[in-house]
Amino acid sequence: MKSIYLDYAATTPLDPEVFEVMKIYFLDKFGNASSIHRYGQIAKAALEESRLSIAKLIGAKPGEFYFVSGGTEANNFAIKGAALNAFRLGKNHIVTSEIEHHAVLDCCAYLESNGFEVTYLKVDSSGVVNPESVEKAIKKNTCLISIMLVNNEIGTINPIKDIGEIAKRHKIIFHTDAVQAFGKIPINVEELNVDLLSISAHKIYGPKGIGAIYIRNGVELEKIVHGGGQEKGRRAGTENVPSAVGFAKAAEKAIQNMKFENQRLLNLKLNFKQKICNLFPFVLFNGIESKSVPHILNISFDSSKIKIDGEALLLNLDLNGIAVSAGSACTSGSIKPSHVILSIGRDLDTAKSTIRFSFGKFTEAEDLDYVLMVMKEVVERIGIVL
Ligand SMILES: Cc1ncc(COP(=O)(O)O)c(C=O)c1O
Repeated sequence: MKSIYLDYAATTPLDPEVFEVMKIYFLDKFGNASSIHRYGQIAKAALEESRLSIAKLIGAKPGEFYFVSGGTEANNFAIKGAALNAFRLGKNHIVTSEIEHHAVLDCCAYLESNGFEVTYLKVDSSGVVNPESVEKAIKKNTCLISIMLVNNEIGTINPIKDIGEIAKRHKIIFHTDAVQAFGKIPINVEELNVDLLSISAHKIYGPKGIGAIYIRNGVELEKIVHGGGQEKGRRAGTENVPSAVGFAKAAEKAIQNMKFENQRLLNLKLNFKQKICNLFPFVLFNGIESKSVPHILNISFDSSKIKIDGEALLLNLDLNGIAVSAGSACTSGSIKPSHVILSIGRDLDTAKSTIRFSFGKFTEAEDLDYVLMVMKEVVERIGIVL
């Protein structure tokens, strides 16, 4: 049976070249980067070199760049850290959007249960946050704005530069979750006007369990992980040197290949989309092509035209060797539709029939033709055309 992985937005395989540069830091150069002796100094040098190299790729100074355990921790640090710091100054209002990743939404919910007020902005039907709505939501006690750069489900790109200008004008800390954007679109923290930015290595063929946060000089955050004095005292825990080295290698390669790979994936996606249109007239495309990253394609089946269960479709594709993601989560036996798909205005049944395809460096045109062939058979078998 063929094996086709189309879930690169969930995670990517580790690049063997990345694995190669990491190996020596597990084996020979295994020192603790905080140790004073030679072993420690060798590890420390590799850590700092990696920091410098990734920081440069986003236009940050190395002193503004901190390693953490991944995108989730970076978001927790940014949101809880900024909020808890502002609380002391009497500010307790946060502005975010309905389509954020759960690593942002759940932090906001936690803060709400601890005395904060959160405004969840609606998005338009293409899944984009309107900067005007951000400005309108600002209050005297607003301490933080957090809006994602690229949405992980539908791939839309938000106007972060414009939102950043608004935040700057109102002197409010601005965070963006750039986990799905880093290595896919150019990022420069100065141009984007952001104060805090989250990234993660495993979305770009780097190791799992490492990410980073950019913290603009002068921005105060309450500590979230307490313990040792690592990362200039802002994030405790023995530094993950092998992963930091791997992250730097993966980041460097992603940026180098970005232009070529984006064009290749865009061609694949447009071709795939056209064939979906021809085969399945009842499919709706979520997001908007002109404001999207090329590696994500999200579709739903129009519930007024066809009855089909997204989860069953996904399982049938898996049985045929195709790995995609459902736009819904299965919790205690019931399918929970995606908050993103509902937010762009799809009805409940349409939202439950959502599939996310995400492409990567091993995706080829023949793979997508095979997917279409299998999907046609499965949709005809399990779908009920109304
Ligand atoms: C937009 C977004 N934010 C945050 C995360 C969490 O990152 P990590 O898996 O590194 O914790 C993800 C991962 O899927 C994501 O897509």
